[in-house]
Amino acid sequence: MTARKGIILAGGAGTRLHPVTLAVSKQLLPVYDKPMIYYPLSVLMLAGIREIAVITTPHDQEAFQRLLGDGSRWGLSFTWIVQPAPEGLAQAYLLAESFLDGAPSAMVLGDNLFFGHGLPELLARADARREGGTVFAYHVADPTRYGVLGFDDQGRASRIVEKPAEPPSSWAVTGLYFLDGTAPERAKALTPSARGELEIVSLLEGYLAEGALEVERMGRGFAWLDTGTHASLLDAGNFVRTLTERQGLRVGSPEEVAFRQGWIDAEALAARAAELRGTDYGAYLARLAEGRADVP
Ligand code: TTP
Repeated sequence: MTARKGIILAGGAGTRLHPVTLAVSKQLLPVYDKPMIYYPLSVLMLAGIREIAVITTPHDQEAFQRLLGDGSRWGLSFTWIVQPAPEGLAQAYLLAESFLDGAPSAMVLGDNLFFGHGLPELLARADARREGGTVFAYHVADPTRYGVLGFDDQGRASRIVEKPAEPPSSWAVTGLYFLDGTAPERAKALTPSARGELEIVSLLEGYLAEGALEVERMGRGFAWLDTGTHASLLDAGNFVRTLTERQGLRVGSPEEVAFRQGWIDAEALAARAAELRGTDYGAYLARLAEGRADVP
């Protein structure tokens, strides 16, 4: 079975976060104790994905490389791809075509944060489907801001609409897309929308029309947060802080996921902890490496 490859889409203009994002990419901003991109990266890792393309703007690529390296510290391999202009989420499949080389993919938006009991199982189910695609639907208070699903009488997804003035449901499509190897080919057939973007919703519509799109609902036990506005960024940071301080465990730690997946050993984890010494995060990793994660 061809291994599924990952894509983190971390370009974009981040205009809603100006002036903060005038000089720094949104996905490098902190969400409490970690750079934002650690969270979507950890989700791909939880799905068992080790070959990952990181798509950035031309001018931010170097900063991402400084932060993430070549991936070996987490048992991963990164491929670096530039998106010259933010021309839509579906463009990622064109840019990543040769990287994917026919493999199925999981693409996650670099500003999306997922948390919830049972997430690894949900991801494993999506990974097991090798034909067609899987998206994750989340009940939101304001569906007009998202791609929204419509359902038929049997509760099956029947349509998907981008930022609808009159939403057909409260179920938004989250920024995590498991698609089969045909995604780049399908993306080539898309034309830019009125806002000049290759729309992910249009790509998904193609799968839906063929009955090839599975919708997994992320129930109310999950948190799906995006961080595109000042308020939502602060909310996400507070959410992570609350969990971290209450549980004494970390959310979105690539080191921890790599260690638990068996991709790095205790020695490598201890070395990383030493690099981060003097921080609570480093101390946490050191405890994990010593097998004392349950000790405060
Ligand atoms: P958005 O939040 O839709 O766009 P943005 O990040 O540019 O922000 P703003 O709307 O404030 O200008 O993007 C969602 C995610 O996808 C985000 O992580 C950036 C990324 N993205 C790209 O990498 N390329 C693109 O062409 C687009 C549209 C988004």
